[in-house]
Amino acid sequence: MSLILGLDLGGSSIKAGAVDAATGQLVGDTQSAPTPPGAPVAATRDAIAALVARFPQCSGPVGLAFPSVVDRGVTLTAANIDRAWIGVDAAALLSAAAGRPGVVVNDADAAGVAEMHCGAGRGEQGVMMMLTFGTGIGSALFVGGHLWPNTELGHLEVDGREAEHIASARVRTEEGLDWPAWTGRVNRVLGCYEALLWPDLIIIGGGVSDRFEEFGSLLKARARIRPAGLRHAAGVVGAAMYAAKSLQV
Ligand code: BGC
Repeated sequence: MSLILGLDLGGSSIKAGAVDAATGQLVGDTQSAPTPPGAPVAATRDAIAALVARFPQCSGPVGLAFPSVVDRGVTLTAANIDRAWIGVDAAALLSAAAGRPGVVVNDADAAGVAEMHCGAGRGEQGVMMMLTFGTGIGSALFVGGHLWPNTELGHLEVDGREAEHIASARVRTEEGLDWPAWTGRVNRVLGCYEALLWPDLIIIGGGVSDRFEEFGSLLKARARIRPAGLRHAAGVVGAAMYAAKSLQV
């Protein structure tokens, strides 16, 4: 079995896991390390290198799910990370840190690809919207199983503010919102997304999806709503799938 390493960089932690390249299944538990505060480029690279070294069982390319628009390995935005990431060839930086080929992709796109292949979106042929709630709000949009990359719906203006500034998981924690208060805001955001994009299925991911049982019944939308099948590990699995696919392991 060929094991590929997937990494997912979030605002508070970097998660990593070994993924079976043939099936897309996580093998063993994920491990994590703290994200250096503000995610400066050099410190983040070093933290990634240390995490990679904890997975000697993995070989071949390394995939990284990253909270930025990513175009051919170059990070183009930096909403919740150091602005110095804008314009960085993150794939080259990852390759140097890992000592083997690196693939970098938007974090929500990675999570969405994993959910479409082996999670809550498997077999979905209509319009599927994956949303990740963490430090920001990430989005991945699929039509007939095909991804429209880098959709960035977390930055859509809702009631005069960016959606992720009113309804991310970080905002829930920082403002001490209970589930009804937070889901009320999420429902407002979902309503705006639905008015523009009319998804058939919305998958809720990110770290908060581990607690979907506590708030899922409060979410309201025209579309069907499901928690991420892979929960918080969707980004890790998707990153590894990208790495395996792009280099045909
Ligand atoms: C970033 C996205 C990312 C999302 C979730 C947003 O602030 O702009 O690229 O997918 O956060 O991490």
